[in-house]
Amino acid sequence: MRILAGIQSSGRLHLGNYYGAIRQFIELQERGQALYFIANLHALTSVRDGARNRELTQDIAVSYLALGLDPARAILFRQSDVLEHSELFWILGSVVPLSDLSNAHSYKDKVARGQSPEFGLFAYPVLMAADILVYGSHLVPVGQDQRQHLELARDWATKFNLAYVPGYRPDDPEGLRGGSPGVLRLPEAHILESAAVVPGTDGQKMSKSYDNTIELFGSDKVVKKAIMGIKTDSTPVEAPKPTVDNPLYALLKLMAPPGDFARIDERWRAGGEGYGVFKKELLDLFHATFDAARARHAELHADPAAVEAVLQAGAVRARELAQQQMALVRRAVGV
Ligand code: ADP
Ligand code: TRP
Repeated sequence: MRILAGIQSSGRLHLGNYYGAIRQFIELQERGQALYFIANLHALTSVRDGARNRELTQDIAVSYLALGLDPARAILFRQSDVLEHSELFWILGSVVPLSDLSNAHSYKDKVARGQSPEFGLFAYPVLMAADILVYGSHLVPVGQDQRQHLELARDWATKFNLAYVPGYRPDDPEGLRGGSPGVLRLPEAHILESAAVVPGTDGQKMSKSYDNTIELFGSDKVVKKAIMGIKTDSTPVEAPKPTVDNPLYALLKLMAPPGDFARIDERWRAGGEGYGVFKKELLDLFHATFDAARARHAELHADPAAVEAVLQAGAVRARELAQQQMALVRRAVGV
Protein backbone atom coordinates (compact mmCIF):
# COMPACT_ATOMS: atom_id res chain seq x y z
CA MET A 1 0.00 0.00 0.00
CA ARG A 2 1.26 3.48 -0.89
CA ILE A 3 0.47 6.26 1.55
CA LEU A 4 1.11 9.83 0.58
CA ALA A 5 0.66 13.25 2.15
CA GLY A 6 2.12 16.72 2.11
CA ILE A 7 2.07 19.81 4.28
CA GLN A 8 2.52 23.27 2.88
CA SER A 9 5.51 25.19 4.12
CA SER A 10 3.51 28.35 4.55
CA GLY A 11 3.96 28.73 8.31
CA ARG A 12 4.88 26.93 11.52
CA LEU A 13 3.15 23.70 12.45
CA HIS A 14 0.37 23.79 15.04
CA LEU A 15 -1.83 21.43 17.05
CA GLY A 16 -4.34 21.21 14.16
CA ASN A 17 -1.65 19.95 11.81
CA TYR A 18 -0.51 17.40 14.35
CA TYR A 19 -3.84 15.90 15.41
CA GLY A 20 -5.51 16.40 12.03
CA ALA A 21 -2.70 15.03 9.91
CA ILE A 22 0.82 14.31 11.20
CA ARG A 23 -0.18 11.92 13.97
CA GLN A 24 -1.85 9.77 11.30
CA PHE A 25 1.25 10.06 9.09
CA ILE A 26 3.39 8.64 11.86
CA GLU A 27 0.99 5.76 12.54
CA LEU A 28 0.60 4.92 8.87
CA GLN A 29 4.33 4.75 8.14
CA GLU A 30 4.21 1.27 9.70
CA ARG A 31 1.47 0.08 7.37
CA GLY A 32 2.89 0.50 3.89
CA GLN A 33 5.27 2.53 1.73
CA ALA A 34 4.68 6.04 3.01
CA LEU A 35 5.78 9.16 1.16
CA TYR A 36 5.61 12.48 3.02
CA PHE A 37 6.64 15.74 1.49
CA ILE A 38 6.94 19.42 2.11
CA ALA A 39 4.63 21.17 -0.32
CA ASN A 40 6.95 24.08 -1.02
CA LEU A 41 5.53 24.66 -4.51
CA HIS A 42 2.06 24.99 -3.02
CA ALA A 43 3.48 27.44 -0.49
CA LEU A 44 4.38 29.83 -3.32
CA THR A 45 0.70 30.73 -3.50
CA SER A 46 1.15 32.54 -0.19
CA VAL A 47 4.86 33.06 0.57
CA ARG A 48 6.54 35.66 -1.63
CA ASP A 49 9.99 35.67 -0.13
CA GLY A 50 12.68 33.19 -1.22
CA ALA A 51 14.63 33.25 2.04
CA ARG A 52 11.48 32.72 4.10
CA ASN A 53 10.33 29.92 1.82
CA ARG A 54 13.67 28.14 2.24
CA GLU A 55 13.61 28.63 6.00
CA LEU A 56 10.04 27.36 6.38
CA THR A 57 10.73 24.35 4.16
CA GLN A 58 13.61 23.41 6.42
CA ASP A 59 11.47 23.99 9.51
CA ILE A 60 8.73 21.65 8.30
CA ALA A 61 11.32 18.95 7.52
CA VAL A 62 12.79 19.29 11.01
CA SER A 63 9.28 19.19 12.50
CA TYR A 64 8.29 16.02 10.66
CA LEU A 65 11.45 14.28 11.90
CA ALA A 66 11.09 15.58 15.45
CA LEU A 67 7.51 14.27 15.63
CA GLY A 68 8.55 10.74 14.75
CA LEU A 69 8.66 10.42 10.99
CA ASP A 70 11.25 7.70 10.46
CA PRO A 71 13.31 8.11 7.28
CA ALA A 72 14.21 4.42 7.43
CA ARG A 73 10.55 3.65 6.76
CA ALA A 74 8.91 6.68 5.17
CA ILE A 75 10.30 8.67 2.27
CA LEU A 76 10.64 12.35 3.23
CA PHE A 77 11.26 14.89 0.47
CA ARG A 78 10.67 18.38 -0.91
CA GLN A 79 7.97 18.65 -3.56
CA SER A 80 10.21 20.86 -5.71
CA ASP A 81 12.89 18.14 -5.87
CA VAL A 82 10.64 15.83 -7.87
CA LEU A 83 9.89 17.57 -11.17
CA GLU A 84 7.37 14.90 -12.14
CA HIS A 85 4.78 16.57 -9.87
CA SER A 86 4.90 19.65 -12.09
CA GLU A 87 4.86 17.62 -15.29
CA LEU A 88 1.75 15.66 -14.28
CA PHE A 89 0.17 18.93 -13.09
CA TRP A 90 0.23 20.16 -16.68
CA ILE A 91 -0.87 16.93 -18.33
CA LEU A 92 -3.71 16.46 -15.85
CA GLY A 93 -4.70 20.11 -16.31
CA SER A 94 -5.74 19.31 -19.84
CA VAL A 95 -8.66 17.17 -18.56
CA VAL A 96 -9.71 19.45 -15.67
CA PRO A 97 -12.98 21.36 -16.19
CA LEU A 98 -12.62 25.02 -15.27
CA SER A 99 -15.90 24.85 -13.35
CA ASP A 100 -14.43 22.30 -10.89
CA LEU A 101 -11.79 24.86 -9.97
CA SER A 102 -14.07 27.86 -9.72
CA ASN A 103 -16.37 25.85 -7.41
CA ALA A 104 -13.59 24.62 -5.10
CA HIS A 105 -14.21 25.68 -1.46
CA SER A 106 -10.62 26.46 -0.58
CA TYR A 107 -10.23 28.86 -3.50
CA LYS A 108 -13.52 30.60 -2.78
CA ASP A 109 -12.72 30.87 0.96
CA LYS A 110 -9.26 32.27 0.40
CA VAL A 111 -10.45 34.85 -2.10
CA ALA A 112 -13.36 35.78 0.20
CA ARG A 113 -10.76 36.42 2.92
CA GLY A 114 -8.92 38.86 0.73
CA GLN A 115 -6.21 36.75 -0.96
CA SER A 116 -5.71 37.94 -4.54
CA PRO A 117 -7.05 35.44 -7.09
CA GLU A 118 -3.90 34.37 -8.94
CA PHE A 119 -3.67 31.43 -11.32
CA GLY A 120 -1.53 29.44 -8.85
CA LEU A 121 -4.19 29.66 -6.16
CA PHE A 122 -6.86 28.71 -8.68
CA ALA A 123 -4.88 25.76 -10.03
CA TYR A 124 -3.74 24.59 -6.56
CA PRO A 125 -6.04 21.50 -6.50
CA VAL A 126 -4.58 20.29 -9.81
CA LEU A 127 -1.05 20.33 -8.41
CA MET A 128 -2.31 18.55 -5.30
CA ALA A 129 -3.99 15.90 -7.45
CA ALA A 130 -0.75 15.47 -9.40
CA ASP A 131 1.18 15.06 -6.11
CA ILE A 132 -1.08 12.16 -5.24
CA LEU A 133 -1.53 10.51 -8.63
CA VAL A 134 2.15 10.61 -9.58
CA TYR A 135 2.82 7.87 -7.00
CA GLY A 136 -0.26 5.76 -7.65
CA SER A 137 -1.16 6.47 -4.00
CA HIS A 138 -3.78 4.33 -2.28
CA LEU A 139 -4.30 6.33 0.89
CA VAL A 140 -4.00 10.04 1.66
CA PRO A 141 -4.19 11.07 5.34
CA VAL A 142 -5.55 14.63 5.64
CA GLY A 143 -7.82 16.83 7.74
CA GLN A 144 -11.45 17.37 6.88
CA ASP A 145 -10.72 20.60 4.98
CA GLN A 146 -8.94 18.60 2.27
CA ARG A 147 -11.78 16.17 1.55
CA GLN A 148 -12.96 18.04 -1.52
CA HIS A 149 -9.45 18.08 -2.99
CA LEU A 150 -9.35 14.28 -2.74
CA GLU A 151 -12.70 14.00 -4.48
CA LEU A 152 -11.44 16.21 -7.28
CA ALA A 153 -8.30 14.08 -7.63
CA ARG A 154 -10.49 11.00 -8.04
CA ASP A 155 -12.76 12.73 -10.59
CA TRP A 156 -9.83 13.89 -12.68
CA ALA A 157 -8.07 10.54 -12.54
CA THR A 158 -11.29 9.01 -13.87
CA LYS A 159 -11.52 11.62 -16.65
CA PHE A 160 -7.90 10.96 -17.58
CA ASN A 161 -8.39 7.20 -17.66
CA LEU A 162 -11.57 7.54 -19.72
CA ALA A 163 -9.76 9.75 -22.21
CA TYR A 164 -6.59 7.71 -22.59
CA VAL A 165 -7.23 4.11 -21.60
CA PRO A 166 -9.24 2.11 -24.17
CA GLY A 167 -11.68 -0.20 -22.39
CA TYR A 168 -11.51 1.70 -19.07
CA ARG A 169 -14.73 1.47 -17.08
CA PRO A 170 -15.30 3.88 -14.16
CA ASP A 171 -17.20 1.13 -12.31
CA ASP A 172 -14.14 -1.12 -12.55
CA PRO A 173 -11.17 1.26 -12.11
CA GLU A 174 -8.65 -1.46 -11.27
CA GLY A 175 -9.81 -3.64 -14.16
CA LEU A 176 -10.80 -6.50 -11.84
CA ARG A 177 -14.03 -7.33 -13.67
CA GLY A 178 -13.04 -7.42 -17.31
CA GLY A 179 -12.35 -3.74 -17.98
CA SER A 180 -8.89 -2.24 -18.57
CA PRO A 181 -7.11 -0.98 -15.45
CA GLY A 182 -6.65 2.79 -15.30
CA VAL A 183 -3.23 4.39 -15.71
CA LEU A 184 -4.02 6.68 -12.76
CA ARG A 185 -5.14 5.00 -9.52
CA LEU A 186 -8.09 6.51 -7.60
CA PRO A 187 -6.85 7.49 -4.10
CA GLU A 188 -8.84 7.23 -0.85
CA ALA A 189 -8.88 9.99 1.77
CA HIS A 190 -8.00 8.90 5.32
CA ILE A 191 -9.70 11.31 7.72
CA LEU A 192 -9.84 10.73 11.45
CA GLU A 193 -13.25 11.94 12.62
CA SER A 194 -12.15 12.66 16.20
CA ALA A 195 -9.61 15.20 14.97
CA ALA A 196 -11.22 16.27 11.71
CA VAL A 197 -11.39 19.92 12.76
CA VAL A 198 -9.20 21.09 15.64
CA PRO A 199 -10.41 24.46 16.92
CA GLY A 200 -8.06 27.41 17.27
CA THR A 201 -7.76 29.75 20.26
CA ASP A 202 -10.66 31.84 18.92
CA GLY A 203 -12.96 28.86 18.31
CA GLN A 204 -12.66 28.89 14.50
CA LYS A 205 -10.72 26.12 12.75
CA MET A 206 -7.09 26.33 13.86
CA SER A 207 -5.13 27.62 10.86
CA LYS A 208 -1.87 29.37 10.06
CA SER A 209 -3.88 31.91 8.13
CA TYR A 210 -6.20 32.87 11.02
CA ASP A 211 -3.61 33.77 13.63
CA ASN A 212 -5.30 31.46 16.15
CA THR A 213 -2.75 28.64 16.40
CA ILE A 214 -0.96 26.89 19.23
CA GLU A 215 2.43 26.26 17.66
CA LEU A 216 4.04 22.89 18.32
CA PHE A 217 7.54 24.32 18.33
CA GLY A 218 6.97 27.87 19.54
CA SER A 219 8.98 29.09 22.54
CA ASP A 220 7.57 28.27 25.99
CA LYS A 221 6.46 31.88 26.24
CA VAL A 222 4.62 31.88 22.90
CA VAL A 223 2.85 28.61 23.71
CA LYS A 224 1.81 29.82 27.15
CA LYS A 225 0.49 33.07 25.73
CA ALA A 226 -1.57 31.20 23.11
CA ILE A 227 -3.04 28.75 25.61
CA MET A 228 -3.80 31.37 28.26
CA GLY A 229 -5.40 33.45 25.52
CA ILE A 230 -7.94 30.79 24.44
CA LYS A 231 -11.28 32.50 24.14
CA THR A 232 -13.71 31.66 26.96
CA ASP A 233 -17.13 33.00 27.90
CA SER A 234 -18.23 34.71 31.10
CA THR A 235 -19.52 31.61 32.95
CA PRO A 236 -18.82 32.31 36.67
CA VAL A 237 -16.22 30.22 38.52
CA GLU A 238 -18.78 28.32 40.59
CA ALA A 239 -21.05 27.42 37.62
CA PRO A 240 -20.82 24.30 35.43
CA LYS A 241 -18.99 25.13 32.17
CA PRO A 242 -20.58 24.74 28.74
CA THR A 243 -19.21 21.91 26.63
CA VAL A 244 -20.48 23.09 23.23
CA ASP A 245 -18.57 25.63 21.11
CA ASN A 246 -15.89 25.86 23.76
CA PRO A 247 -12.41 25.54 22.24
CA LEU A 248 -10.76 24.97 25.65
CA TYR A 249 -13.00 21.96 26.31
CA ALA A 250 -12.44 20.59 22.80
CA LEU A 251 -8.65 20.92 23.12
CA LEU A 252 -8.61 19.23 26.53
CA LYS A 253 -10.64 16.38 25.07
CA LEU A 254 -8.25 16.08 22.16
CA MET A 255 -5.06 16.11 24.22
CA ALA A 256 -5.87 14.33 27.49
CA PRO A 257 -5.54 10.54 27.64
CA PRO A 258 -9.15 9.20 27.74
CA GLY A 259 -9.07 8.17 31.43
CA ASP A 260 -7.72 11.56 32.49
CA PHE A 261 -10.28 13.31 30.34
CA ALA A 262 -13.16 11.61 32.15
CA ARG A 263 -11.99 13.25 35.39
CA ILE A 264 -11.48 16.65 33.74
CA ASP A 265 -14.95 16.37 32.23
CA GLU A 266 -16.52 15.69 35.64
CA ARG A 267 -14.88 18.76 37.18
CA TRP A 268 -15.82 20.85 34.13
CA ARG A 269 -19.48 19.94 34.49
CA ALA A 270 -19.48 20.27 38.29
CA GLY A 271 -18.37 23.92 38.42
CA GLY A 272 -16.29 25.44 41.20
CA GLU A 273 -13.12 25.95 39.17
CA GLY A 274 -12.39 28.82 36.79
CA TYR A 275 -11.23 28.57 33.18
CA GLY A 276 -7.73 29.60 34.28
CA VAL A 277 -7.29 26.29 36.14
CA PHE A 278 -8.23 24.32 33.04
CA LYS A 279 -5.95 26.40 30.82
CA LYS A 280 -3.06 25.63 33.15
CA GLU A 281 -3.96 21.97 32.81
CA LEU A 282 -3.95 22.18 29.01
CA LEU A 283 -0.54 23.84 29.15
CA ASP A 284 0.78 20.97 31.29
CA LEU A 285 -0.69 18.46 28.85
CA PHE A 286 0.94 20.27 25.95
CA HIS A 287 4.36 20.03 27.57
CA ALA A 288 3.88 16.42 28.64
CA THR A 289 2.92 15.50 25.07
CA PHE A 290 5.41 17.53 23.06
CA ASP A 291 8.49 18.30 25.16
CA ALA A 292 10.43 15.28 23.86
CA ALA A 293 9.67 16.28 20.26
CA ARG A 294 10.49 19.89 21.07
CA ALA A 295 13.93 18.85 22.33
CA ARG A 296 14.54 16.81 19.15
CA HIS A 297 13.41 19.79 17.08
CA ALA A 298 16.04 21.99 18.73
CA GLU A 299 18.75 19.38 18.07
CA LEU A 300 17.82 18.85 14.42
CA HIS A 301 17.47 22.56 13.85
CA ALA A 302 21.11 22.88 14.84
CA ASP A 303 22.17 20.22 12.30
CA PRO A 304 20.90 21.36 8.88
CA ALA A 305 23.36 19.12 7.00
CA ALA A 306 21.84 15.98 8.49
CA VAL A 307 18.36 17.12 7.55
CA GLU A 308 19.47 18.02 4.03
CA ALA A 309 20.94 14.53 3.63
CA VAL A 310 17.60 12.97 4.59
CA LEU A 311 15.74 15.19 2.10
CA GLN A 312 18.13 14.41 -0.74
CA ALA A 313 18.03 10.69 -0.15
CA GLY A 314 14.23 10.93 0.00
CA ALA A 315 14.11 12.82 -3.31
CA VAL A 316 16.10 10.07 -5.04
CA ARG A 317 13.68 7.38 -3.86
CA ALA A 318 10.58 9.45 -4.61
CA ARG A 319 11.81 10.37 -8.10
CA GLU A 320 12.32 6.74 -8.94
CA LEU A 321 8.69 5.92 -8.10
CA ALA A 322 7.35 9.02 -9.84
CA GLN A 323 9.33 8.26 -12.99
CA GLN A 324 7.82 4.79 -13.24
CA GLN A 325 4.33 6.26 -13.12
CA MET A 326 5.19 9.08 -15.55
CA ALA A 327 6.51 6.61 -18.11
CA LEU A 328 2.99 5.12 -18.24
CA VAL A 329 1.35 8.54 -18.37
CA ARG A 330 3.62 9.79 -21.15
CA ARG A 331 3.02 6.68 -23.18
CA ALA A 332 -0.75 6.96 -22.70
CA VAL A 333 -0.91 10.60 -23.82
CA GLY A 334 1.68 10.21 -26.58
CA VAL A 335 4.43 12.58 -25.49
P1 ADP B 1 -3.31 25.56 7.68
O1 ADP B 1 -4.81 25.54 7.58
O2 ADP B 1 -2.84 25.94 9.02
O3 ADP B 1 -2.67 26.36 6.57
P2 ADP B 1 -2.50 23.29 6.14
O4 ADP B 1 -3.55 23.68 5.13
O5 ADP B 1 -1.10 23.44 5.74
O6 ADP B 1 -2.83 24.07 7.48
O7 ADP B 1 -2.79 21.81 6.62
C1 ADP B 1 -1.89 20.74 6.64
C2 ADP B 1 -2.63 19.49 7.11
O8 ADP B 1 -3.13 19.69 8.43
C3 ADP B 1 -3.86 19.16 6.24
O9 ADP B 1 -4.00 17.77 6.14
C4 ADP B 1 -4.99 19.75 7.02
O10 ADP B 1 -6.21 19.12 6.74
C5 ADP B 1 -4.53 19.53 8.45
N1 ADP B 1 -5.11 20.56 9.31
C6 ADP B 1 -4.81 21.89 9.32
N2 ADP B 1 -5.51 22.55 10.22
C7 ADP B 1 -6.31 21.63 10.84
C8 ADP B 1 -7.28 21.70 11.88
N3 ADP B 1 -7.55 22.84 12.49
N4 ADP B 1 -7.91 20.57 12.23
C9 ADP B 1 -7.61 19.38 11.62
N5 ADP B 1 -6.71 19.26 10.64
C10 ADP B 1 -6.06 20.36 10.24
N1 TRP C 1 -3.26 21.08 0.25
C1 TRP C 1 -2.73 20.45 1.42
C2 TRP C 1 -2.93 21.35 2.61
O1 TRP C 1 -3.10 22.54 2.50
C3 TRP C 1 -1.26 20.14 1.28
C4 TRP C 1 -1.02 19.18 0.18
C5 TRP C 1 -0.47 19.45 -1.02
C6 TRP C 1 -1.32 17.78 0.20
N2 TRP C 1 -0.39 18.33 -1.78
C7 TRP C 1 -0.91 17.28 -1.08
C8 TRP C 1 -1.89 16.93 1.13
C9 TRP C 1 -1.09 15.93 -1.41
C10 TRP C 1 -2.07 15.58 0.78
C11 TRP C 1 -1.67 15.09 -0.49
O2 TRP C 1 -2.89 20.87 3.69
